Amino acid sequence: MSDKATLEYNGNKYDFPVIKGTEDELAIDIKSLRTETGMITIDPGYKNTGSCESAITFLDGEKGILRYRGYSIEELAEKADFLEVAYLLIFGELPNETQLSKFHSDIKAQSLVDEDMRKIVDAFPKSAHPMGVIASLTSALTAFNPSSVNVTSEEDMYKAIVKILGKFPVLVAWTFRKKNGLPLDYGDKNLGYVENILKMMFKQPNEEYKTNPIVLNALDKLLILHADHEQNCSTSTVRIAGSSHVGLFASLSTGISALWGPLHGGANQAVLEMLEGINADGGDSKKYMAKAKDKDDPFRLMGFGHRVYKNFDPRAKIIKKAADEVLGDLGIKDPILEIAQILEKEALLDQYFVDRKLYPNVDFYSGIIYRALGIPTDMFTVMFALGRLPGWIAQWREMRLNGEPIGRPRQVYMGETSRPFVPVEKR
Ligand code: CMC
Repeated sequence: MSDKATLEYNGNKYDFPVIKGTEDELAIDIKSLRTETGMITIDPGYKNTGSCESAITFLDGEKGILRYRGYSIEELAEKADFLEVAYLLIFGELPNETQLSKFHSDIKAQSLVDEDMRKIVDAFPKSAHPMGVIASLTSALTAFNPSSVNVTSEEDMYKAIVKILGKFPVLVAWTFRKKNGLPLDYGDKNLGYVENILKMMFKQPNEEYKTNPIVLNALDKLLILHADHEQNCSTSTVRIAGSSHVGLFASLSTGISALWGPLHGGANQAVLEMLEGINADGGDSKKYMAKAKDKDDPFRLMGFGHRVYKNFDPRAKIIKKAADEVLGDLGIKDPILEIAQILEKEALLDQYFVDRKLYPNVDFYSGIIYRALGIPTDMFTVMFALGRLPGWIAQWREMRLNGEPIGRPRQVYMGETSRPFVPVEKR
């Protein structure tokens, strides 16, 4: 294998180093391209562009492999809990019991949110989309925690990390409760991290809260499956915003906004709305398959396709099984699930989907579980954000510790060339 790639242009040859990742992925290092050749590369959507070297998550879209810090997603989903996975992603190793217990205590110690934040929560109309609310609240945390804005040491970083891991679930729960007219709750320090999230969301003021182990297990698994996915849209947004050395909370707020879109994390809400729409329209899956394939129709089969998975999404396999189990265990018969199963079967056999390697992604089944757990549709993407939080944090921390330069892509200008100004009366 050659350790350089040669570019030939206008009779000149330029050599660029080829770097190899630990999983044998190859990349041409073009850092000196513009200095040497005067040219840049162009790659809309960054389909072929590596923005960084990272040791957090490995995925192979062709083989359907996803690993966090070397551990397979299948094994983590089965054997680990969400807090362990969060620690693994952020700090690189699975925690021992002492490390895990200290991590959890540090998070719990930071789980109070300034009471004045309630006024901000109260100011949002009930109709506000929870993703917009949670992005704003995360940004507002910066104002209430100024010491977390300019992090210069690993110790500062750690403090900011446990703060956001403590406060974010409270804000999620408050957003949910406000929308449902319930009094705001701080949860219970004696509960596990995920169990406490459930309690903060669902505790009714007039009854004792009892954890349903099926619900707890399903949510824990969902959060693990969503915890990181290397340089996706929201993570790249967090890294690029953080590269200007804005603080952690502000960087996360940009990631939450990026996640909201229906082509990214918003797909879980879009999938369920699509399935409900098909159901309300008589359940004719073939009609919607035809719409998805019609290039004159903007309709897309939500929950299908992925920028990197071109074989199958390993998370979708685990979630599909979990959805079957949760619905079975909770005794729920859901017509929406039946439509999802028919659509999946039809799409997997359809030449259009086969040719374009379009498979169900993580969001195709996650909404069905969230629905079974009693989480309203417009909270689905917030639940995704809750899961993705450790991934964003890990990527932000890595970017800062690696001393990455400010993110600043270039462009090829295609606009007007220089022209004289024309006064308004002469235009
Ligand atoms: N339904 C119908 N056709 C599709 C779909 C779909 N869901 N996805 C892709 N295609 C077609 C697309 O029209 C194009 O066809 P052609 O080559 O004839 O022009 C071809 O497949 C390639 O699509 P693309 O848009 O160029 O692929 P991409 O890598 O830019 O986009 C995607 C990936 C996930 C945005 C896209 O597949 C999509 O819009 N899927 C539906 C939304 C969705 O489920 N998003 C969740 C992604 S997983 C969770 C996450 O990352 O947050």
